[in-house]
Amino acid sequence: MKNGVKLYDTDGNELHAHGGHMLFHNGWYYWYGEDRRDNIYVSCYRSADLEHWEFRCHSLTADSPTAPIRVRSDLALSHEIAGERADIAIVREMGGNRCRVNIERPKVLYNRLTGKFVMWMHYENGMNYHDARCAVATCDTPDGEFTYHGSFNPFGCMSRDCTLFEDGDTAYFISAARDNADLHVYRLSEDYLNVDEQVKSLWQGEYREAPAVFKREGKYYMLSSFCTGWAPNQGKWASADSMEGRWSMLHLFGDETTYRSQPAFVLPVTKDDGEHFYYIADRWNGKQYFDSTYIFLEIQFDEAGNPYIEYADECVLG
Ligand code: DGJ
Repeated sequence: MKNGVKLYDTDGNELHAHGGHMLFHNGWYYWYGEDRRDNIYVSCYRSADLEHWEFRCHSLTADSPTAPIRVRSDLALSHEIAGERADIAIVREMGGNRCRVNIERPKVLYNRLTGKFVMWMHYENGMNYHDARCAVATCDTPDGEFTYHGSFNPFGCMSRDCTLFEDGDTAYFISAARDNADLHVYRLSEDYLNVDEQVKSLWQGEYREAPAVFKREGKYYMLSSFCTGWAPNQGKWASADSMEGRWSMLHLFGDETTYRSQPAFVLPVTKDDGEHFYYIADRWNGKQYFDSTYIFLEIQFDEAGNPYIEYADECVLG
């Protein structure tokens, strides 16, 4: 994968998957990410070799099917969802014929209990960033159209930049709370459709965004950026012996702009010589969102197990 350039799918069309995530399922890597064209919110591509990307579908659009679930934290909306206006409320929430909302940083996991693919994302109303909610959608297949289930503030908290991380049968949703000042870690319910418990509130007042979690040799690592809008800043990493345990302080990752990028996710890939980890990021162009590109760098580890990256123009993932 070439860094800092536009990418194209196997049909020769520009690939749109910003703030994204990859899910490995039945031999395929599915790449989900933001697609801001027309009525589209999230698109899905797949690849077996992590080099050639086939467009599969627009996973979520303003016209996607909707089905409310009772996970609201907003009382008024909760009544609307529970009552006969449920469909109207939830269609309106997705934009419908009103205006585009903002769907950012979509992440997808497969839930073995229900057989559903579950997407979590950051939801804003399209006019400002004041709603600060997470939203949930599901699908029976990895590359079908997802059904949108609505948005909420987990336990009443603001929730912006986010990620998902699955550890065995337990999944976690991590998101920026309190106007991005703190990073919350929520253990998900068994069906992955709701938050079960807030298990951590990390780095109080440090304003960390763009969290990305991975596990290597039994240790958990979290990358994140500082909070500077679309402008790049110094990345940092931290580690822990368990997701719900004590996390370390923040250490520098990359250079002062993280090579002009912001984390989207970390991709673990098992090869003949063991497991490799790739830092996959966005190089945003805040003035021209559609000129944003992608960065792929292999994460290396020093003798103490501390992760670091060095810039290269391209990266072989597969
Ligand atoms: C930084 C976040 O990481 C992005 O996902 C996006 O929300 C921008 N801020 C918006 O300014």
